[in-house]
Amino acid sequence: MTNNVKHFLNLSDIKPEELRGILKNAHALKKLKYNPPQIFQGLSLAMMFDKRSTRTRMSFEVAMKQNGGHTIVMNMGEMQIGGSESIESTANVLSRYVDAIMIRISDHETLIELSKHTQIPVINGMTDKSHPCQIMADIMTIEEKLGSIEGKKIAWFGDSNNVSNTFIEAAPLFEFELILALPEDLHDQVPAGANVTADIKKAAKNADALVTDTWISMGQEDDKKGNDDIKKFQPYQINSELMGMAKDSAIFMHCLPIHEWEEVSENVAKSPVSVIYDEAENRLHAQKAILAWCLENSGVSIQERFAF
Ligand code: CP
Ligand code: NVA
Repeated sequence: MTNNVKHFLNLSDIKPEELRGILKNAHALKKLKYNPPQIFQGLSLAMMFDKRSTRTRMSFEVAMKQNGGHTIVMNMGEMQIGGSESIESTANVLSRYVDAIMIRISDHETLIELSKHTQIPVINGMTDKSHPCQIMADIMTIEEKLGSIEGKKIAWFGDSNNVSNTFIEAAPLFEFELILALPEDLHDQVPAGANVTADIKKAAKNADALVTDTWISMGQEDDKKGNDDIKKFQPYQINSELMGMAKDSAIFMHCLPIHEWEEVSENVAKSPVSVIYDEAENRLHAQKAILAWCLENSGVSIQERFAF
């Protein structure tokens, strides 16, 4: 953390007990969905995007507004930072206007650079390396559906990407078992220490949750489109047969957007074991709690209300 500013950049920067506290508040705030405490009154969040978004943009906007705050959204191509203004100058100026920044930016190092120059919290709204807000919502969803995350077996299938990287980061912090089933040639792209296999049966066996994501992340369209790269993922599709190899109580998870009949079959995506829309909703509640944690130095005192 720079100057005691509470950034939300990498899960591994934050103590596990603080992450658990954020999740506890997320559950509490969800119960207050129709009576949201006005904890962000007078506070503003700037949101910057260099990529498309539906959930991240809308859930942050609603999270701030339901709880009394304000938002401003900027496409980075329309800001001076998309021209010649430096990250440092942009960071200093935004720090004078708003109380926090949420940014979706491809280059993770630029996110870190921005956070070094702001006097206000910066939240990682997804980079090519990670997607911590998504994983907080996913863990919240697992807890709702299956109870404590501790000791659960989560099995990931398909590509190695920003979302799988963040599950890898989260596993030791939240003490769950994680296995990734990926095509052999991707194994060396996976961060060190992760449990990786090419064997889908091994991954699915006794799993509590089967998780996947697109085989072509944003920015990779030209590299992967229509070539053999896509065919290699086919055996890793989550379908009824694969779900049948997991625990009877297993759930299907996906951060969305889905590409039906690519990474998941339509019948699984639309089946009762699919919790995809709960995950999407929980982005809203988890992010309220993340914002409250980040904004503590601006006077938001959520602990007094919900006691960690
Ligand atoms: N899951 C997710 O981050 O969705 P968006 O790209 O729509 O924000
Ligand atoms: N891995 C995907 C996640 C989208 C929310 C991407 O980066 O496009």
